Amino acid sequence: MATWDSIYKQKGIIQPQPLPAIKKLTCFIQDTGNNRTILDMGCGTGRHTFYLHQKFPDATIYAYDNSPKALELVNEIKEASSITDERIIIFEHDMDKEFPYQDIKFDIIVSTLVIHHGFFNEIQKRLDDSLTLLKDDGFFVLVVPSTKDPRYATGETAKDGTKLNTDQDDGDIPHFFFSNELIKKLFRDYSIIDIHEYERPMVTAVGAAVNWEIIVKK
Ligand SMILES: C[S@@+](CC[C@H](N)C(=O)[O-])C[C@H]1O[C@@H](n2cnc3c(N)ncnc32)[C@H](O)[C@@H]1O
Repeated sequence: MATWDSIYKQKGIIQPQPLPAIKKLTCFIQDTGNNRTILDMGCGTGRHTFYLHQKFPDATIYAYDNSPKALELVNEIKEASSITDERIIIFEHDMDKEFPYQDIKFDIIVSTLVIHHGFFNEIQKRLDDSLTLLKDDGFFVLVVPSTKDPRYATGETAKDGTKLNTDQDDGDIPHFFFSNELIKKLFRDYSIIDIHEYERPMVTAVGAAVNWEIIVKK
């Protein structure tokens, strides 16, 4: 089975540019000057960690992934940039395990193309756990695949709608695709302040991927 760790070992940094949702987020909050605490869940090789550090140099950013290779690459970038441990805290963590910094509430949580790897019950728990870590008035940025993504039509469908063996490099990892209706239901108790579909060139397969980019406020 392909894992992200093996993809990073083979290909190195494959997602260098920040996604539009993260740039958009900074428009909503650029005018407020307080120091912020930010969490980048499943940070990969850190494109959003470092982008948010540039935008909010006084923020403390926690960035985790469960891929040791991703963290090695992210640490190399951090060391080359002389960013201190007070500003960016990088740690290995599995999002399905108990979060190690339970006493911290975050102003911003970023989860881009991470929680959809799994079955719906896992995804619901990941969302609930993340939103618990968010401060009231905090922002949650979620990027997930849309049911309009062409790969949604490939592979087999499991009982809960999760797709197995989709047509992509990491296709043997289960993928969950989101409809607009489901997103509205999942965030019915929050303010959705921005939602759009974004078609992005794929890095691990041929063709374009269609993602939902969502910014919600608690
Ligand atoms: C598609 S990549 C996205 C990386 C990054 N968020 C970005 O947008 O550049 C998915 C990432 O999720 C990480 N990941 C997958 N399952 C995870 C888990 N259970 N806990 C933590 N990270 C996980 C992978 O290692 C990988 O870095």
